[in-house]
Amino acid sequence: MILREVTIGDARLILGDSYTVLPTLGFVPQICTDPPYLIRTAGGGKFRAQRGHTDRIAEEGLDQGFDHSIINPLLCGSAVVFCHNDQVPELTTYLRGSFDRFALCMWIKTNPMPMANKHYQADSEIYIHAWNRGYHPAGTLADKKRHVMSQVGRGGQFDHPTVKPDAVMDKIIRNIAADEICDPFMGTGSTGVAALKAGKRFVGIEKNEAHFETACRRIRAAADALKVAA
Ligand SMILES: C[S@@+](CC[C@H](N)C(=O)[O-])C[C@H]1O[C@@H](n2cnc3c(N)ncnc32)[C@H](O)[C@@H]1O
Repeated sequence: MILREVTIGDARLILGDSYTVLPTLGFVPQICTDPPYLIRTAGGGKFRAQRGHTDRIAEEGLDQGFDHSIINPLLCGSAVVFCHNDQVPELTTYLRGSFDRFALCMWIKTNPMPMANKHYQADSEIYIHAWNRGYHPAGTLADKKRHVMSQVGRGGQFDHPTVKPDAVMDKIIRNIAADEICDPFMGTGSTGVAALKAGKRFVGIEKNEAHFETACRRIRAAADALKVAA
């Protein structure tokens, strides 16, 4: 059920549960999303105190994963999906079975936490780009690197524990051929900001009212900045 809907320029922002809302939108050319990861938030030992955002992730249920079937290949041409290392086997199996092709790509953090997680430093995050014919990755060869480097850590600015950096989202959007992008786990609207900057239409769905308001604010500011620049 759509609880509220706000239109800002080429962006349509929906407050509601994406599992019920997304199927009602019909075909969306491109999904680009950072869904709740399936992760263990317990532990951390002596470093736990430095990982305050992990408590917030658990509080908001962002450690519970997501139902892969929300990415329905009959209702979208392509999907870019962030995931945790441990989700890669199941998520790639699902996406490989649903789309013609896929690529594993990576965001490399230039300022990772100085500690190990599962014995490796957590200095990168994976995203998978899967597509059907007609929706293959776009951009120049320079845009088509499988990695992007950026700093981490803007959660405090937007009161959300997992805000993705602009540089990461801008690069991903440059690799998207479609002119309309949907993020069913919108959070604070990072995908929407990048989509508008690239001249693409955006549809975002978020169930948390506070994050929805933040997304409205960010996307309104991005739309206003584009108007001033025009
Ligand atoms: C990992 S965060 C996305 C953060 C986003 N990439 C950003 O930069 O702000 C996932 C978001 O999905 C939202 N969410 C979780 N389950 C949802 C659902 N069923 N429907 C809509 N939103 C949902 C959460 O509230 C959270 O804000």
